[in-house]
Amino acid sequence: MAPGPRLAALADLAAGCTRCPLAATRTQVVFGVGDPDADLMFVGEAPGRDEDLRGEPFVGRSGRLLDRLLDEELGIDRSAVYIANVVKCRPPDNRDPRPDEIAACRPYLAEQVELIAPTVVVTLGNFATKLLLDTDQGITAMRGAAYPVGGVQYVPTFHPAAALRGGGVVLAQMRADFVRAKQLIGLAP
Ligand code: URA
Repeated sequence: MAPGPRLAALADLAAGCTRCPLAATRTQVVFGVGDPDADLMFVGEAPGRDEDLRGEPFVGRSGRLLDRLLDEELGIDRSAVYIANVVKCRPPDNRDPRPDEIAACRPYLAEQVELIAPTVVVTLGNFATKLLLDTDQGITAMRGAAYPVGGVQYVPTFHPAAALRGGGVVLAQMRADFVRAKQLIGLAP
């Protein structure tokens, strides 16, 4: 079966998930969005308030910055990539996701990566980077390189919220990381 229908079946399964306590407080599961055949995938941390209400990842302020960087550095929009999060349900009050929540949700993300089989996964921030690269190193130490694991190139970069807080220097580093991803998917020399 093609990745699209299999992803849709997985999303249907996730929609009723009760594997962790976030099920009790979410409005809806925010599974992921985009092209199931994408060469490029982005993984964030967890849905926030806007995402919980809309059912789509990265639709608030961080999402607008992600969309801008996709446009300005790669010349594409979000429909050309796939976007997901480490945990699929909003942690109350936007607190950090807890280890048990990350562990419960991990199989969904692993299957998303396997079905989409992207060339490049950009990990946005510490949670996605630590989980997918199985490291304790923080994003500042990890970014600036690509890490091949299981046929996928992982490109860690800051979470867009860090650029919204941290300003120009963080944003410039994010731009460089997006260019690295662009080169790895063959969109740039
Ligand atoms: N931050 C994330 O990590 N993911 C979202 O979907 C929105 C904000």
